[in-house]
Amino acid sequence: MTDTIQINGDRLWSSLMEMAKIGATDKGGVCRLALTDVDKAARDLFVKWCEQAGCTVTIDRMGNIFGRREGKRADLPPVMTGSHIDSQPTGGKFDGIYGVLSGLEVIRTLNDAGIETDAPIEVSAWTNEEGSRFAPAMVSSGVFSGVFDLEYGLSRADLDGKTMGEELERIGYAGDAPVGKPVRAFFEVHIEQGPILENESKTIGVVTDAQGQRWYEVTFTGQEAHAGPTPMATRRDALLGAARVIEAVNRIGLDHAPLACATVGLVEVHPNSRNTIPGRVFFAVDLRHPNDETLSKMDAALRVAVADVAQALNLETELNEIWYSPPVPFDADCVAAVRRAAEANGMAHRDIVSGAGHDACYISRVAPTSMVFIPCEGGISHNEIENATPEHVAAGCQVLLQAMLERAQAT
Ligand code: GLV
Ligand code: MN
Ligand code: MN
Repeated sequence: MTDTIQINGDRLWSSLMEMAKIGATDKGGVCRLALTDVDKAARDLFVKWCEQAGCTVTIDRMGNIFGRREGKRADLPPVMTGSHIDSQPTGGKFDGIYGVLSGLEVIRTLNDAGIETDAPIEVSAWTNEEGSRFAPAMVSSGVFSGVFDLEYGLSRADLDGKTMGEELERIGYAGDAPVGKPVRAFFEVHIEQGPILENESKTIGVVTDAQGQRWYEVTFTGQEAHAGPTPMATRRDALLGAARVIEAVNRIGLDHAPLACATVGLVEVHPNSRNTIPGRVFFAVDLRHPNDETLSKMDAALRVAVADVAQALNLETELNEIWYSPPVPFDADCVAAVRRAAEANGMAHRDIVSGAGHDACYISRVAPTSMVFIPCEGGISHNEIENATPEHVAAGCQVLLQAMLERAQAT
């Protein structure tokens, strides 16, 4: 009776806590920016654990890692799960890595129970999901899914000009496997990163859709000048322009409430000197909405705001949309498999739309896909205090196991 086997929640929790030591921060989170030495250390540990679980490990040219457990039918593509190892600069212990280690726990559980599935089972770790060090987010699952070409992926650069290709070579994760292959079904388990499940005392979020996102980079150029002698009326202050656009971005989010989100999270001021009027400012804008039409309206409003501010303050402008990820409807059968698994365990559940981007969003373009969410404390994520209970962590992994087993059957 393969549907009654239980994952080992204690083992999953202790693997998560062991992994959280790599890149640990003082406030209890992790800083594991993509392709840094700490990302390498965490990858090494994951690969070691996969090998100890008897998996064959493959690394592709984007540094995506796959741990494979063979099934009875070598002709069937794998049923895959996975997420990401990298984190935000002030990230938590669960975002991403929970999905990776849950996949490993599924394989460990199948090993313990001596179960041979029809389709192979694979656990994946996708390079640079966060998009924090290298934009955009989900870039390597994007290459896997044919959304971006390999050259684009490898040439993504950080603010110091280092490319993903160079950094993959440097840390020894520029693999030789081609990027992309057939996948029978893909499931990703993740913390919700918002407050809905906790507020409603639900254990499982059955993720039906993910909202769309548009990312922009804006540069305002004015003129550096002395902060003392330069009269207010003649200034061309690029930071003042950015401040006005930041206010406008917030307004765009509020104007499209309740579902819109609009954020400026990155600002670089030049020359960043307290007594020089800022001559150049670079900043990033993140707009999100589950409805593509509304997202387009938000896009138009941003463009008007940037143009108006530039004109009013006599600034030169560069506005580039660097990423567009449309809203994603997940596969109805995979969504139903997650719901069935939650129900079979008597877990309180509800359907939910993902506010965050996930590798599953891109994998859904090439394989039937869905996601499993669990609550996180206070709905807080992208923060060192991010937290989840061992019970919820185990519940999400149990649902993952059962959904994967269902899809791994040949008939
Ligand atoms: C990924 O973490 C995102 O920004 O949604
Ligand atoms: Mn994540
Ligand atoms: Mn994240």
